[in-house]
Amino acid sequence: MERSMKDQTLDAFVKAFGGPLYDVSVWFAPGRVNLIGEHTDYNGGHVFPCALTMGTYAAVRRREDRRLRFYSTGFPEEGIIETSLDELVPEERFGWTNYPKGVIKMMADHGHPIETGFEMAVCGDIPSGAGLSSSASIEVLTALILCGLYGDLESGGPVRLFRNNDAGNPKRLRGEIPGKEIFFAAGISREDIARICQEAENVYNGCSCGIMDQFAVTFGKKDHAIFLDTAALEYETVPVRMDGHAIVITNTNVKHKLTDSKYNERRRECETALSVIRRRCTPELLMSLSAVNTLLYGESYPTVIRGLCDLDSALVDAMAEKWFQEFPEEERLKLIKRMRHAASENERCKQAVRALREGNLTVFGILMNASHISLRDDYEVTGPELDALAEAAWEVDGCLGSRMTGGGFGGCTVSIVRNDALERFKEHVAREYRDKTGLEADFYIAGIGSGPRKL
Ligand code: GLA
Repeated sequence: MERSMKDQTLDAFVKAFGGPLYDVSVWFAPGRVNLIGEHTDYNGGHVFPCALTMGTYAAVRRREDRRLRFYSTGFPEEGIIETSLDELVPEERFGWTNYPKGVIKMMADHGHPIETGFEMAVCGDIPSGAGLSSSASIEVLTALILCGLYGDLESGGPVRLFRNNDAGNPKRLRGEIPGKEIFFAAGISREDIARICQEAENVYNGCSCGIMDQFAVTFGKKDHAIFLDTAALEYETVPVRMDGHAIVITNTNVKHKLTDSKYNERRRECETALSVIRRRCTPELLMSLSAVNTLLYGESYPTVIRGLCDLDSALVDAMAEKWFQEFPEEERLKLIKRMRHAASENERCKQAVRALREGNLTVFGILMNASHISLRDDYEVTGPELDALAEAAWEVDGCLGSRMTGGGFGGCTVSIVRNDALERFKEHVAREYRDKTGLEADFYIAGIGSGPRKL
């Protein structure tokens, strides 16, 4: 599979830029699917994504000058997009190349500039705009290439083009080099790669996304999901044992574009709510809450509210009406709903991870359904297509749970389906979806793959 995508990528390179291939290398970064914990990452909560075996491939050759030349088989009509290291400003005419260019710019801003350009041919099997992080995938892929190609790892020589190389002399590395070593040999940690790529999305591409996607792509581990506490940036990898079930991704085929969607609006609403909460949650109140929480759950309450996910959903239900009196009714109800989602989704995410660790897929599935309902009713980011898919999935005997995944407003759902119910699931969901929306859905069985690497 990977082998043939590698060949296709090399073919695309030759077609676009010509041979020979002796100085062309091929790199890969996965896409991701989030199992649960949605719209929690920018609210200081937990997420539980995994990297996919689907991803983005790039064949790359360094140039002697400062030109950058890009070609993507996903956008053949755009042909070769020509630009340069002196043109690292986001512009619509640069299309998809704003993602790799954003990473080059952010790496430079963080003290890791490159001095010469490259040509890059990109191929991929992640459907774009489907909420499976094709953009984070190309961002992390670019960062990997910058570290690997410009770090001169192959020659075993010193990292030449990186100014901040505090990792000492890189080891001579051959063959399949895991992303971790490439990043480390270039003097940058994987956490920093995820942050720099997130910044490329936030600052260069105008989407105020959280860190989940870039983190999941960078830290991907085969057959594991990543339980990430986004406030502390601490994570654990958890084995995903499916016990006769498959993870099914269903595509609405309605493209979502986060910058166009209400994503940034949701972030602003959460910030407004948080500023009120911070004012209301005095240190005295937090101390008494902590005492109650310790008594009831054996867990102390945070002493500072870092994000809406630090709130307990029972507290939101009890106090929010009173705390948000200063807002007109409509606004007040909206803010309370957003908070309720953030708090409850964070709780569901932690419970779901516990259930998976205990091998209880049934509970995991129930929590997925509840997550969708909360995203639909409280956070209002689903829309008719995602709702049609999830609701059809819930009707299938053998489907343990189904929910929208990613930013929402189109894109995909993720479902857990018993292997012997797969065909029935696809038939029923496809039919219901067609009847309700007039659209065709696509189905993929998700393989959980490892992180970025050189092929
Ligand atoms: C998008 C963003 C992520 C996250 C999800 C929602 O995928 O890029 O940071 O906020 O939406 O969970």
